[in-house]
Amino acid sequence: KLHNDMNLLIFVLFIYAIFTKTHSQRHCQFKPRFLRYYKIRNCYKSTLPVIAWANTPTLRSCIKFARHRNALAFNFSPMEAINYRNDFTSNCQALGCPEIGNSSTFVMDVAFDYYSAYGNWNKTENATCIKSLGIFSLITEKQNYNKSIESCQNIGADLADVSSEVRTNYLSNYINNTIQNWYKAAYVGLDDIQEEGIFRTVSGTLLTCFRYRAWGPGHPRSKHKSEDCVILDSDKMWRVVKCRTKLQALCEFYPEKPAELIDYENITCNYILDKSKYKNLSTNQ
Ligand SMILES: *[C@@H]1O[C@H](CO)[C@@H](O)[C@H](O)[C@H]1NC(C)=O
Ligand SMILES: *[C@@H]1O[C@H](CO)[C@@H](O)[C@H](O)[C@H]1NC(C)=O
Ligand SMILES: *[C@@H]1O[C@H](CO)[C@@H](O)[C@H](O)[C@H]1NC(C)=O
Ligand SMILES: *[C@@H]1O[C@H](CO)[C@@H](O)[C@H](O)[C@H]1NC(C)=O
Ligand SMILES: *[C@@H]1O[C@H](CO)[C@@H](O)[C@H](O)[C@H]1NC(C)=O
Ligand SMILES: *[C@@H]1O[C@H](CO)[C@@H](O)[C@H](O)[C@H]1NC(C)=O
Ligand SMILES: *[C@@H]1O[C@H](CO)[C@@H](O)[C@H](O)[C@H]1NC(C)=O
Repeated sequence: KLHNDMNLLIFVLFIYAIFTKTHSQRHCQFKPRFLRYYKIRNCYKSTLPVIAWANTPTLRSCIKFARHRNALAFNFSPMEAINYRNDFTSNCQALGCPEIGNSSTFVMDVAFDYYSAYGNWNKTENATCIKSLGIFSLITEKQNYNKSIESCQNIGADLADVSSEVRTNYLSNYINNTIQNWYKAAYVGLDDIQEEGIFRTVSGTLLTCFRYRAWGPGHPRSKHKSEDCVILDSDKMWRVVKCRTKLQALCEFYPEKPAELIDYENITCNYILDKSKYKNLSTNQ
């Protein structure tokens, strides 16, 4: 009898474990990072640092290569432009950062087209790119948490995601280098306002969906129920504060489509049929 009861108990626990596992996973939308790139301009390329090169037969394979290397943008030279390319230049150049704003690193080159995951680059003109990670901007005006979210949204961004070790480390460095106060910390996108003790990112994803934690010693201070909002400091730690505390805020721009998608089908480079002119152009650069 006892034996049967034990079996039943184990069976019930087993079912319960499966149920809670699938149930909690349903709330975690694990989407592997899958960047979309948009053609921003033809006959141009970015001269920002290339993080990886390859010769790829098609645009599609260049996109795959760029994704695999965590590129935020890339230059691609199609087969048709092969004669305009220097012999030793790879036709697929993965870039750690996209062009942001009005930049002198964006140059004409008839052999290349420029693609970026951040289509609306006017929006990011004053922002900072962290290689392969994203585009960020610090709101230096000290405001409470709600106002900080608002400020980020006003520039077309959101409070920054710190839910990985790489993000926490890089963004903490950025805070350390950017904030001038003696105490260097900023609001990031994590809070338990909705439900005490249940932290969520700004997109509403539960923190329990991620493995990494960077809580400072004693944090998140469960005895201090009024401390619901999370800051990241220059020591790579997350700490909770009262959401009415006025602090600087770290915003993150997300990849997006260009405001208007240009149809490049009939747009040709002025120089494309004039090889000698192109050669002069390239030696000038
Ligand atoms: C960039 O700025 C320069 C001068 O500040 C201006 O001449 C040029 O037209 C601008 N380029 C773009 C693409 O806005
Ligand atoms: C970006 O800025 C340039 C010049 O400053 C302007 O010509 C262009 O229309 C803007 N693009 C968008 C999508 O706002
Ligand atoms: C970037 O900074 C300049 C100068 O402060 C400002 O005029 C411009 O509006 C800012 N651009 C954006 C997109 O915030
Ligand atoms: C923060 O920056 C200072 C230099 O400005 C440096 O000495 C310090 O080690 C940095 N702190 C961390 C945690 O990286
Ligand atoms: C922030 O906004 C939420 C609702 O969006 C509200 O419940 C909360 O009281 C606000 N907090 C502060 C400090 O303004
Ligand atoms: C491109 O040019 C071709 C032929 O000149 C024309 O039939 C086609 O409609 C054009 N496409 C666009 C998007 O303008
Ligand atoms: C290119 O440069 C050469 C001499 O450097 C010159 O003779 C030729 O006219 C130039 N071509 C164009 C299209 O400017």
